[in-house]
Amino acid sequence: MNQQTPPLVSGALPGLGHALEFQRDRSGLVRRGFEEHGAVFAIKLASQNVAVVIGPEHQKTFFMETDKALNIQEPYRFLLSMFGEVLFLAPPEEYKAQRPLVQELFKREKMLHYVDVMQVEVQKWLDQLGDEGEMELVGEIVWLVQEVAGNCFLGPEIHQRIGREFWDLYADLSKSLDPLLPPNLPLPKFIRRDRARARMLEILRPIIAERRQQPALYDDFLQDLVNRRHPDGREFDEELIVNLLLGLMFAGHETTAGQAAWSIILLLQNPEYLALVQEEIERVAPYGTHIDPRRFAQLEHISWAVREVERLRPSAEMLMRTVHEDVTFGDYVVPKGWLVQVAQEIGHNLPALFDRPGQFDPLRYAPGRAEDKADRFALFGFGGGTHKCTGMNFANNEMTIITALLFQQYDLTLVTTNPGINRGLGASRPEKTIIRYRRKALAPAGVPTPLPEAAVA
Ligand code: HEM
Repeated sequence: MNQQTPPLVSGALPGLGHALEFQRDRSGLVRRGFEEHGAVFAIKLASQNVAVVIGPEHQKTFFMETDKALNIQEPYRFLLSMFGEVLFLAPPEEYKAQRPLVQELFKREKMLHYVDVMQVEVQKWLDQLGDEGEMELVGEIVWLVQEVAGNCFLGPEIHQRIGREFWDLYADLSKSLDPLLPPNLPLPKFIRRDRARARMLEILRPIIAERRQQPALYDDFLQDLVNRRHPDGREFDEELIVNLLLGLMFAGHETTAGQAAWSIILLLQNPEYLALVQEEIERVAPYGTHIDPRRFAQLEHISWAVREVERLRPSAEMLMRTVHEDVTFGDYVVPKGWLVQVAQEIGHNLPALFDRPGQFDPLRYAPGRAEDKADRFALFGFGGGTHKCTGMNFANNEMTIITALLFQQYDLTLVTTNPGINRGLGASRPEKTIIRYRRKALAPAGVPTPLPEAAVA
Protein backbone atom coordinates (compact mmCIF):
# COMPACT_ATOMS: atom_id res chain seq x y z
CA MET A 1 0.00 0.00 0.00
CA ASN A 2 1.53 3.33 -0.98
CA GLN A 3 -0.91 5.64 0.80
CA GLN A 4 0.55 8.14 3.22
CA THR A 5 -0.31 8.70 6.84
CA PRO A 6 -2.22 11.94 7.61
CA PRO A 7 -0.10 15.14 7.72
CA LEU A 8 0.92 16.52 11.11
CA VAL A 9 -0.53 19.83 12.34
CA SER A 10 2.03 22.57 13.03
CA GLY A 11 3.24 23.36 16.53
CA ALA A 12 4.23 19.89 17.83
CA LEU A 13 6.80 20.19 20.65
CA PRO A 14 9.66 17.69 21.00
CA GLY A 15 8.55 14.80 23.22
CA LEU A 16 5.19 16.35 24.09
CA GLY A 17 3.77 16.85 20.62
CA HIS A 18 0.48 18.75 20.94
CA ALA A 19 -0.36 17.36 24.41
CA LEU A 20 -0.32 20.71 26.22
CA GLU A 21 -2.30 22.52 23.56
CA PHE A 22 -4.77 19.63 23.39
CA GLN A 23 -5.43 20.02 27.11
CA ARG A 24 -5.60 23.79 26.99
CA ASP A 25 -7.55 24.37 23.78
CA ARG A 26 -8.51 21.24 21.90
CA SER A 27 -10.96 23.12 19.69
CA GLY A 28 -8.34 25.66 18.59
CA LEU A 29 -5.91 22.87 17.74
CA VAL A 30 -8.48 21.00 15.68
CA ARG A 31 -9.50 24.19 13.85
CA ARG A 32 -5.87 24.90 12.94
CA GLY A 33 -5.43 21.34 11.70
CA PHE A 34 -8.50 21.70 9.48
CA GLU A 35 -7.27 25.04 8.09
CA GLU A 36 -3.80 23.66 7.38
CA HIS A 37 -4.67 20.25 5.95
CA GLY A 38 -8.41 19.84 5.41
CA ALA A 39 -10.54 16.85 6.35
CA VAL A 40 -7.87 14.40 7.58
CA PHE A 41 -4.84 15.36 9.64
CA ALA A 42 -2.75 14.15 12.56
CA ILE A 43 -1.91 15.45 16.00
CA LYS A 44 0.55 13.94 18.43
CA LEU A 45 -0.16 13.45 22.14
CA ALA A 46 3.33 12.71 23.49
CA SER A 47 4.24 9.57 21.51
CA GLN A 48 0.64 8.72 20.53
CA ASN A 49 -0.40 9.52 16.96
CA VAL A 50 -4.02 10.65 16.62
CA ALA A 51 -5.82 11.09 13.30
CA VAL A 52 -8.65 13.65 13.26
CA VAL A 53 -11.22 13.00 10.54
CA ILE A 54 -13.92 15.45 9.43
CA GLY A 55 -16.96 15.40 7.15
CA PRO A 56 -19.85 12.97 6.68
CA GLU A 57 -17.93 10.46 4.57
CA HIS A 58 -15.17 10.03 7.15
CA GLN A 59 -17.60 10.28 10.07
CA LYS A 60 -19.49 7.40 8.46
CA THR A 61 -16.32 5.27 8.30
CA PHE A 62 -15.53 6.17 11.91
CA PHE A 63 -18.95 5.08 13.18
CA MET A 64 -19.64 2.18 10.82
CA GLU A 65 -16.27 0.37 10.85
CA THR A 66 -16.37 -2.79 12.91
CA ASP A 67 -15.01 -2.84 16.45
CA LYS A 68 -12.38 -5.20 15.08
CA ALA A 69 -10.78 -2.46 12.97
CA LEU A 70 -11.72 0.64 14.98
CA ASN A 71 -11.97 -0.39 18.58
CA ILE A 72 -14.06 1.57 21.09
CA GLN A 73 -13.15 -0.43 24.18
CA GLU A 74 -9.51 0.56 24.38
CA PRO A 75 -9.65 4.37 24.40
CA TYR A 76 -12.27 4.24 27.16
CA ARG A 77 -10.41 1.56 29.16
CA PHE A 78 -9.83 4.04 32.00
CA LEU A 79 -13.57 3.79 32.76
CA LEU A 80 -13.27 0.08 33.62
CA SER A 81 -12.25 0.68 37.23
CA MET A 82 -15.42 2.74 37.66
CA PHE A 83 -18.00 0.61 35.90
CA GLY A 84 -16.52 -2.84 35.22
CA GLU A 85 -17.15 -4.69 31.98
CA VAL A 86 -20.44 -3.16 30.87
CA LEU A 87 -21.71 -1.99 27.49
CA PHE A 88 -18.85 -1.12 25.17
CA LEU A 89 -16.34 -1.66 27.97
CA ALA A 90 -17.22 -5.37 27.86
CA PRO A 91 -15.48 -7.85 25.55
CA PRO A 92 -17.20 -7.96 22.11
CA GLU A 93 -19.28 -11.10 22.73
CA GLU A 94 -20.55 -9.82 26.07
CA TYR A 95 -21.27 -6.40 24.52
CA LYS A 96 -23.32 -8.04 21.77
CA ALA A 97 -25.36 -9.83 24.42
CA GLN A 98 -25.88 -6.73 26.60
CA ARG A 99 -26.75 -4.18 23.92
CA PRO A 100 -30.20 -5.50 22.88
CA LEU A 101 -31.14 -5.91 26.52
CA VAL A 102 -30.25 -2.32 27.24
CA GLN A 103 -32.08 -1.13 24.11
CA GLU A 104 -35.19 -2.89 25.33
CA LEU A 105 -35.13 -0.75 28.47
CA PHE A 106 -35.80 2.29 26.26
CA LYS A 107 -38.54 0.90 24.03
CA ARG A 108 -41.67 2.92 23.36
CA GLU A 109 -43.98 1.86 26.18
CA LYS A 110 -41.16 2.30 28.70
CA MET A 111 -40.46 5.74 27.24
CA LEU A 112 -44.09 6.82 27.71
CA HIS A 113 -43.73 5.96 31.37
CA TYR A 114 -40.40 7.82 31.66
CA VAL A 115 -41.91 10.92 30.03
CA ASP A 116 -44.66 10.91 32.68
CA VAL A 117 -42.04 10.59 35.43
CA MET A 118 -40.10 13.47 33.85
CA GLN A 119 -43.17 15.70 33.96
CA VAL A 120 -43.82 14.95 37.60
CA GLU A 121 -40.21 15.56 38.62
CA VAL A 122 -39.81 18.76 36.61
CA GLN A 123 -43.07 20.07 38.10
CA LYS A 124 -41.86 19.30 41.64
CA TRP A 125 -38.69 21.26 40.89
CA LEU A 126 -40.66 24.22 39.54
CA ASP A 127 -43.02 24.20 42.51
CA GLN A 128 -40.17 24.64 44.97
CA LEU A 129 -38.56 27.52 43.05
CA GLY A 130 -41.02 30.06 44.42
CA ASP A 131 -42.52 33.08 42.69
CA GLU A 132 -39.32 34.85 41.81
CA GLY A 133 -35.61 34.83 42.41
CA GLU A 134 -32.26 34.00 40.93
CA MET A 135 -30.68 30.59 40.47
CA GLU A 136 -27.51 29.04 39.16
CA LEU A 137 -29.02 27.17 36.25
CA VAL A 138 -26.39 24.49 35.63
CA GLY A 139 -26.30 23.24 39.23
CA GLU A 140 -30.12 23.21 39.35
CA ILE A 141 -30.38 21.23 36.12
CA VAL A 142 -27.76 18.71 37.22
CA TRP A 143 -29.80 18.17 40.40
CA LEU A 144 -33.04 17.89 38.41
CA VAL A 145 -31.58 15.39 35.95
CA GLN A 146 -30.40 13.30 38.90
CA GLU A 147 -33.93 13.33 40.32
CA VAL A 148 -35.33 12.20 36.95
CA ALA A 149 -32.68 9.49 36.51
CA GLY A 150 -33.13 8.31 40.11
CA ASN A 151 -36.90 8.05 39.74
CA CYS A 152 -36.83 6.43 36.30
CA PHE A 153 -33.92 4.08 36.84
CA LEU A 154 -33.91 3.22 40.54
CA GLY A 155 -37.64 3.78 40.99
CA PRO A 156 -39.25 6.37 43.30
CA GLU A 157 -39.44 4.10 46.30
CA ILE A 158 -35.69 3.38 46.30
CA HIS A 159 -34.72 6.86 45.18
CA GLN A 160 -36.54 8.34 48.17
CA ARG A 161 -34.85 5.85 50.49
CA ILE A 162 -31.28 6.17 49.24
CA GLY A 163 -31.33 8.86 46.56
CA ARG A 164 -29.07 11.55 47.91
CA GLU A 165 -26.55 9.10 49.44
CA PHE A 166 -26.44 7.40 46.05
CA TRP A 167 -25.64 10.68 44.28
CA ASP A 168 -22.97 11.60 46.86
CA LEU A 169 -21.32 8.23 46.24
CA TYR A 170 -21.76 8.75 42.52
CA ALA A 171 -19.90 12.08 42.82
CA ASP A 172 -16.91 10.24 44.37
CA LEU A 173 -16.96 7.86 41.45
CA SER A 174 -17.21 10.64 38.92
CA LYS A 175 -14.35 12.64 40.47
CA SER A 176 -12.00 9.68 40.05
CA LEU A 177 -12.16 9.96 36.26
CA ASP A 178 -8.56 9.96 35.03
CA PRO A 179 -7.45 8.76 31.60
CA LEU A 180 -3.73 9.07 32.39
CA LEU A 181 -2.85 7.56 35.79
CA PRO A 182 -2.92 3.81 36.50
CA PRO A 183 -6.31 3.31 38.20
CA ASN A 184 -4.91 1.19 41.04
CA LEU A 185 -2.50 3.81 42.44
CA PRO A 186 -3.20 4.40 46.16
CA LEU A 187 -4.39 7.98 45.59
CA PRO A 188 -7.19 9.44 47.76
CA LYS A 189 -9.51 9.86 44.75
CA PHE A 190 -9.08 6.21 43.72
CA ILE A 191 -9.56 5.02 47.32
CA ARG A 192 -12.79 7.06 47.53
CA ARG A 193 -13.90 5.57 44.19
CA ASP A 194 -13.44 2.00 45.45
CA ARG A 195 -15.20 2.78 48.74
CA ALA A 196 -18.09 4.38 46.86
CA ARG A 197 -18.48 1.34 44.60
CA ALA A 198 -18.37 -1.04 47.57
CA ARG A 199 -20.98 1.02 49.45
CA MET A 200 -23.26 1.20 46.41
CA LEU A 201 -23.14 -2.57 46.08
CA GLU A 202 -23.81 -2.91 49.82
CA ILE A 203 -26.89 -0.65 49.52
CA LEU A 204 -28.26 -2.18 46.34
CA ARG A 205 -27.60 -5.88 47.01
CA PRO A 206 -30.49 -6.39 49.51
CA ILE A 207 -32.78 -4.26 47.34
CA ILE A 208 -32.02 -6.43 44.32
CA ALA A 209 -32.65 -9.55 46.41
CA GLU A 210 -36.04 -8.11 47.51
CA ARG A 211 -36.88 -7.23 43.91
CA ARG A 212 -36.10 -10.77 42.74
CA GLN A 213 -38.78 -12.02 45.15
CA GLN A 214 -41.47 -9.70 43.68
CA PRO A 215 -40.77 -9.43 39.94
CA ALA A 216 -44.12 -7.80 39.08
CA LEU A 217 -44.47 -5.25 41.86
CA TYR A 218 -42.48 -2.34 40.45
CA ASP A 219 -42.37 -0.71 37.03
CA ASP A 220 -38.95 0.85 36.76
CA PHE A 221 -35.62 0.37 35.11
CA LEU A 222 -34.02 -1.44 38.05
CA GLN A 223 -36.87 -3.97 38.06
CA ASP A 224 -36.39 -4.49 34.33
CA LEU A 225 -32.71 -5.22 34.88
CA VAL A 226 -33.51 -7.57 37.77
CA ASN A 227 -36.06 -9.47 35.65
CA ARG A 228 -33.76 -9.63 32.60
CA ARG A 229 -31.89 -12.81 31.66
CA HIS A 230 -28.78 -13.51 29.58
CA PRO A 231 -29.58 -15.29 26.29
CA ASP A 232 -28.66 -18.60 27.96
CA GLY A 233 -31.24 -18.00 30.72
CA ARG A 234 -28.89 -16.94 33.53
CA GLU A 235 -29.95 -14.03 35.76
CA PHE A 236 -27.87 -10.84 35.71
CA ASP A 237 -25.75 -10.95 38.86
CA GLU A 238 -25.87 -8.05 41.34
CA GLU A 239 -22.57 -6.61 40.28
CA LEU A 240 -23.59 -6.49 36.61
CA ILE A 241 -26.90 -4.82 37.52
CA VAL A 242 -25.12 -2.18 39.62
CA ASN A 243 -22.46 -1.67 36.93
CA LEU A 244 -25.13 -1.23 34.26
CA LEU A 245 -27.01 1.27 36.40
CA LEU A 246 -23.83 3.24 37.08
CA GLY A 247 -22.69 3.04 33.46
CA LEU A 248 -26.02 4.36 32.21
CA MET A 249 -26.07 7.14 34.80
CA PHE A 250 -22.59 8.14 33.69
CA ALA A 251 -23.42 8.02 29.98
CA GLY A 252 -26.69 9.83 30.52
CA HIS A 253 -26.80 12.33 33.28
CA GLU A 254 -24.02 14.91 32.87
CA THR A 255 -24.47 14.85 29.11
CA THR A 256 -28.21 15.49 29.37
CA ALA A 257 -27.76 18.16 32.05
CA GLY A 258 -25.23 20.01 29.85
CA GLN A 259 -27.41 20.12 26.74
CA ALA A 260 -30.59 20.84 28.74
CA ALA A 261 -28.92 23.87 30.34
CA TRP A 262 -27.67 25.04 26.93
CA SER A 263 -31.17 24.69 25.48
CA ILE A 264 -32.47 27.20 28.02
CA ILE A 265 -29.50 29.53 27.62
CA LEU A 266 -29.53 29.56 23.81
CA LEU A 267 -33.27 30.18 23.75
CA LEU A 268 -32.83 33.13 26.12
CA GLN A 269 -30.03 34.46 23.92
CA ASN A 270 -32.30 34.23 20.86
CA PRO A 271 -35.56 35.99 21.77
CA GLU A 272 -37.02 35.85 18.25
CA TYR A 273 -36.92 32.09 18.21
CA LEU A 274 -38.00 31.95 21.87
CA ALA A 275 -41.18 33.82 20.86
CA LEU A 276 -42.00 30.93 18.49
CA VAL A 277 -41.42 28.48 21.32
CA GLN A 278 -43.65 30.49 23.69
CA GLU A 279 -46.42 30.59 21.12
CA GLU A 280 -46.12 26.83 20.63
CA ILE A 281 -46.30 26.15 24.36
CA GLU A 282 -49.41 28.31 24.76
CA ARG A 283 -51.06 26.55 21.82
CA VAL A 284 -50.01 22.95 22.45
CA ALA A 285 -49.22 22.65 26.13
CA PRO A 286 -50.72 25.49 28.19
CA TYR A 287 -50.31 25.39 31.95
CA GLY A 288 -52.12 22.46 33.53
CA THR A 289 -52.18 20.15 30.51
CA HIS A 290 -50.52 16.79 30.67
CA ILE A 291 -48.10 16.49 27.77
CA ASP A 292 -49.30 13.23 26.25
CA PRO A 293 -47.63 11.70 23.18
CA ARG A 294 -49.93 13.61 20.80
CA ARG A 295 -49.09 16.98 22.34
CA PHE A 296 -45.46 16.01 22.69
CA ALA A 297 -45.18 15.41 18.95
CA GLN A 298 -46.46 18.95 18.34
CA LEU A 299 -43.69 20.59 20.35
CA GLU A 300 -41.69 20.87 17.13
CA HIS A 301 -40.02 24.20 17.78
CA ILE A 302 -38.67 22.95 21.08
CA SER A 303 -37.42 19.72 19.54
CA TRP A 304 -35.65 21.68 16.76
CA ALA A 305 -34.06 23.92 19.38
CA VAL A 306 -32.87 20.85 21.29
CA ARG A 307 -31.37 19.49 18.04
CA GLU A 308 -29.65 22.80 17.34
CA VAL A 309 -28.08 22.56 20.81
CA GLU A 310 -26.83 19.06 19.90
CA ARG A 311 -25.14 20.66 16.89
CA LEU A 312 -23.72 23.79 18.51
CA ARG A 313 -23.09 22.68 22.11
CA PRO A 314 -22.68 18.88 22.07
CA SER A 315 -21.80 17.59 25.51
CA ALA A 316 -20.09 14.33 24.47
CA GLU A 317 -17.17 15.78 22.58
CA MET A 318 -14.38 13.27 22.82
CA LEU A 319 -15.28 10.39 20.55
CA MET A 320 -12.29 8.14 19.93
CA ARG A 321 -11.33 4.75 18.58
CA THR A 322 -8.08 2.77 18.62
CA VAL A 323 -6.99 1.49 15.21
CA HIS A 324 -6.52 -2.30 15.28
CA GLU A 325 -6.33 -2.76 11.50
CA ASP A 326 -5.17 -0.10 9.02
CA VAL A 327 -8.12 2.03 7.90
CA THR A 328 -8.27 4.33 4.86
CA PHE A 329 -9.71 7.84 5.17
CA GLY A 330 -9.69 9.53 1.73
CA ASP A 331 -6.12 9.74 0.47
CA TYR A 332 -4.59 8.62 3.74
CA VAL A 333 -4.15 5.43 5.63
CA VAL A 334 -4.36 5.46 9.41
CA PRO A 335 -2.17 2.64 10.65
CA LYS A 336 -2.69 0.11 13.41
CA GLY A 337 -1.78 1.58 16.81
CA TRP A 338 -3.04 5.11 16.08
CA LEU A 339 -6.09 6.70 17.66
CA VAL A 340 -8.84 8.25 15.51
CA GLN A 341 -11.15 11.08 16.55
CA VAL A 342 -14.10 12.86 15.03
CA ALA A 343 -14.52 16.58 15.79
CA GLN A 344 -18.01 18.01 16.26
CA GLU A 345 -16.72 21.57 16.45
CA ILE A 346 -15.83 21.35 12.75
CA GLY A 347 -18.06 18.51 11.52
CA HIS A 348 -21.19 20.25 12.85
CA ASN A 349 -20.16 23.56 11.30
CA LEU A 350 -19.51 22.68 7.67
CA PRO A 351 -21.15 25.33 5.44
CA ALA A 352 -21.72 22.68 2.75
CA LEU A 353 -24.18 21.00 5.12
CA PHE A 354 -25.43 23.75 7.40
CA ASP A 355 -26.46 27.17 6.13
CA ARG A 356 -24.68 29.95 8.11
CA PRO A 357 -23.45 27.28 10.53
CA GLY A 358 -22.39 29.67 13.31
CA GLN A 359 -25.98 30.86 13.84
CA PHE A 360 -28.50 29.39 16.24
CA ASP A 361 -31.18 28.61 13.68
CA PRO A 362 -33.42 25.68 14.74
CA LEU A 363 -35.67 26.23 11.70
CA ARG A 364 -32.93 24.56 9.66
CA TYR A 365 -34.56 21.29 10.79
CA ALA A 366 -38.07 22.29 9.72
CA PRO A 367 -39.69 20.51 6.75
CA GLY A 368 -38.45 22.01 3.51
CA ARG A 369 -34.98 22.70 4.90
CA ALA A 370 -34.25 19.56 6.98
CA GLU A 371 -30.51 20.19 6.78
CA ASP A 372 -29.74 17.30 9.13
CA LYS A 373 -31.44 14.82 6.78
CA ALA A 374 -29.13 15.50 3.81
CA ASP A 375 -26.63 13.04 5.23
CA ARG A 376 -27.09 10.47 8.00
CA PHE A 377 -23.67 11.35 9.41
CA ALA A 378 -23.94 15.16 9.25
CA LEU A 379 -25.09 15.51 12.86
CA PHE A 380 -23.49 13.15 15.35
CA GLY A 381 -23.94 14.59 18.84
CA PHE A 382 -25.30 11.15 19.80
CA GLY A 383 -22.72 9.25 17.77
CA GLY A 384 -23.80 6.92 14.98
CA GLY A 385 -23.71 3.36 13.67
CA THR A 386 -22.82 0.50 15.98
CA HIS A 387 -22.41 2.52 19.15
CA LYS A 388 -25.06 5.16 18.60
CA CYS A 389 -26.41 6.45 21.89
CA THR A 390 -29.00 4.08 23.37
CA GLY A 391 -30.43 6.87 25.53
CA MET A 392 -30.88 9.44 22.73
CA ASN A 393 -34.69 9.50 22.84
CA PHE A 394 -34.69 9.51 26.61
CA ALA A 395 -32.35 12.51 26.65
CA ASN A 396 -34.19 14.42 23.91
CA ASN A 397 -37.53 13.82 25.62
CA GLU A 398 -36.16 15.01 28.94
CA MET A 399 -34.67 18.17 27.42
CA THR A 400 -37.98 18.89 25.69
CA ILE A 401 -40.00 18.46 28.89
CA ILE A 402 -37.65 20.62 30.97
CA THR A 403 -37.72 23.39 28.36
CA ALA A 404 -41.50 23.20 27.84
CA LEU A 405 -42.46 23.30 31.52
CA LEU A 406 -39.93 25.93 32.52
CA PHE A 407 -40.94 28.38 29.77
CA GLN A 408 -44.60 27.51 30.28
CA GLN A 409 -44.51 28.70 33.88
CA TYR A 410 -41.74 31.29 34.18
CA ASP A 411 -40.41 34.42 32.55
CA LEU A 412 -36.64 34.19 32.58
CA THR A 413 -33.69 36.53 32.05
CA LEU A 414 -30.02 35.69 31.76
CA VAL A 415 -27.95 37.48 34.39
CA THR A 416 -24.81 35.73 33.11
CA THR A 417 -25.37 36.85 29.56
CA ASN A 418 -22.71 34.89 27.74
CA PRO A 419 -21.50 31.81 29.64
CA GLY A 420 -18.52 29.94 28.21
CA ILE A 421 -18.14 26.18 27.75
CA ASN A 422 -16.85 24.22 30.72
CA ARG A 423 -15.05 21.26 29.12
CA GLY A 424 -14.93 18.32 31.49
CA LEU A 425 -13.49 14.86 30.99
CA GLY A 426 -16.89 13.21 31.14
CA ALA A 427 -19.06 15.80 29.39
CA SER A 428 -18.97 19.49 28.69
CA ARG A 429 -21.58 21.93 29.96
CA PRO A 430 -22.08 25.68 30.35
CA GLU A 431 -20.03 27.52 32.94
CA LYS A 432 -21.99 28.69 35.98
CA THR A 433 -24.96 30.68 34.71
CA ILE A 434 -27.18 32.86 36.86
CA ILE A 435 -30.72 33.37 35.63
CA ARG A 436 -33.51 35.50 37.09
CA TYR A 437 -37.00 34.01 37.10
CA ARG A 438 -40.51 35.22 37.78
CA ARG A 439 -43.57 32.99 37.85
CA LYS A 440 -46.19 33.84 35.23
CA ALA A 441 -49.61 34.90 36.45
CA LEU A 442 -51.17 31.78 34.91
CA ALA A 443 -49.08 29.48 36.98
CA PRO A 444 -49.86 29.75 40.69
CA ALA A 445 -47.62 27.53 42.83
CA GLY A 446 -48.98 24.29 44.16
CA VAL A 447 -51.61 23.56 41.48
CA PRO A 448 -51.29 19.79 41.21
CA THR A 449 -49.95 18.34 37.97
CA PRO A 450 -52.90 16.65 36.25
CA LEU A 451 -52.77 12.90 36.13
CA PRO A 452 -51.48 11.46 32.88
CA GLU A 453 -54.30 10.65 30.45
CA ALA A 454 -52.65 7.38 29.53
CA ALA A 455 -51.97 6.64 33.21
CA VAL A 456 -49.22 4.16 33.84
CA ALA A 457 -50.51 0.68 34.41
C1 HEM B 1 -27.67 14.78 25.75
C2 HEM B 1 -27.42 13.61 26.29
C3 HEM B 1 -26.53 12.58 25.68
C4 HEM B 1 -25.53 12.71 24.78
C5 HEM B 1 -25.01 13.99 24.14
C6 HEM B 1 -25.01 11.38 24.51
C7 HEM B 1 -24.00 11.11 23.61
C8 HEM B 1 -23.56 9.84 23.30
C9 HEM B 1 -22.58 9.54 22.29
C10 HEM B 1 -21.86 10.56 21.43
C11 HEM B 1 -22.40 8.21 22.27
C12 HEM B 1 -21.46 7.43 21.33
C13 HEM B 1 -20.06 7.32 21.91
C14 HEM B 1 -19.05 6.88 20.87
O1 HEM B 1 -19.40 6.52 19.74
O2 HEM B 1 -17.85 6.89 21.22
C15 HEM B 1 -23.26 7.64 23.28
C16 HEM B 1 -23.35 6.31 23.59
C17 HEM B 1 -24.14 5.81 24.59
N1 HEM B 1 -25.05 6.51 25.37
FE1 HEM B 1 -25.44 8.48 25.25
N2 HEM B 1 -25.69 10.49 25.27
C18 HEM B 1 -26.65 11.16 25.99
C19 HEM B 1 -27.57 10.63 26.87
C20 HEM B 1 -27.65 9.30 27.21
C21 HEM B 1 -28.59 8.74 28.15
C22 HEM B 1 -29.69 9.51 28.86
C23 HEM B 1 -28.28 7.42 28.26
C24 HEM B 1 -28.94 6.36 29.09
C25 HEM B 1 -29.52 6.57 30.22
C26 HEM B 1 -27.18 7.14 27.37
C27 HEM B 1 -26.60 5.91 27.18
C28 HEM B 1 -25.65 5.64 26.23
C29 HEM B 1 -25.11 4.30 26.01
C30 HEM B 1 -25.52 3.04 26.76
C31 HEM B 1 -24.17 4.41 24.98
C32 HEM B 1 -23.31 3.29 24.38
C33 HEM B 1 -24.00 2.66 23.22
C34 HEM B 1 -23.22 1.47 22.71
O3 HEM B 1 -22.00 1.48 22.63
O4 HEM B 1 -23.88 0.49 22.41
N3 HEM B 1 -26.82 8.31 26.75
N4 HEM B 1 -23.98 8.66 23.89
